[in-house]
Amino acid sequence: MNPIIHILPDSTALAHAAAEAITSAIEVALAAHAASETRSFTLCLSGGSTPEVVYRLLAAAPFCERIDWQQVHLFWGDDRHVPPDHADSNYLMVREALLDHVAIPSHNVHRMRSELPAAQAAADYEAELHTVFGDELPRFDLVLMGLGEDGHTASLFPHTTVLHERTRWVAENTVPQLNIERITLTIPVFNNAAAMLFLVAGASKAEAVAAILEGAPDPETYPTQFIQPTNGTLTWLLDVPAAAQLQRLPEQPGTSS
Ligand code: 6PG
Repeated sequence: MNPIIHILPDSTALAHAAAEAITSAIEVALAAHAASETRSFTLCLSGGSTPEVVYRLLAAAPFCERIDWQQVHLFWGDDRHVPPDHADSNYLMVREALLDHVAIPSHNVHRMRSELPAAQAAADYEAELHTVFGDELPRFDLVLMGLGEDGHTASLFPHTTVLHERTRWVAENTVPQLNIERITLTIPVFNNAAAMLFLVAGASKAEAVAAILEGAPDPETYPTQFIQPTNGTLTWLLDVPAAAQLQRLPEQPGTSS
């Protein structure tokens, strides 16, 4: 399935477009769910500097007032193998940017317990997902993704073992090239999402963006190419610098003749 690509003038416009897209998706889904038994929205978050700006927008007016936080359940696509109060923690970043500012019940916040040994943290998070999703492969309503300059997304790094994981829902991933360890959802879980939204800003991402979206298939080198929802939508929000090396620019609203 071809992704939908939107190009925004700059990172500020991108962040606003992302906040609007997330807020609208929650509003629409909760309105549709209103008549049914399940009234919740499952949102899987990304680390990274671009998403962080979006979380700060969601925490403030007008977005925070449009969101029924009682019904939103938050998950993490990945985290660093550090305690939750560590400066590198994706959970801490989200807590400071968003959670500390909105009325979300604590039991709606499903963080990775990355203070545990990595394999145990992964197993613990998989068990947590089972308590929410049962035994069916989790299907998040919306998954946010960032992109690293090296082509990684979440903690799916080039040429790492987790790229071959097709059974577990959550796995620890050692990244030898960076000498770090991460905990990440696996490709089958990401690809089962109902909707995925990539948020990518900055000229440093331009080469990876072009390789992933227009280059030959090489997902071991560019793991983001593994992300292909099997029954969901895939949308990329790029700013102009991040889109600069694309050859086939998508038509943007308002530019058709
Ligand atoms: C993380 C993310 C990672 C991130 C990219 C882009 O934990 O850092 O999961 O995949 O989204 O590295 O990060 P930036 O937006 O900071 O460039």
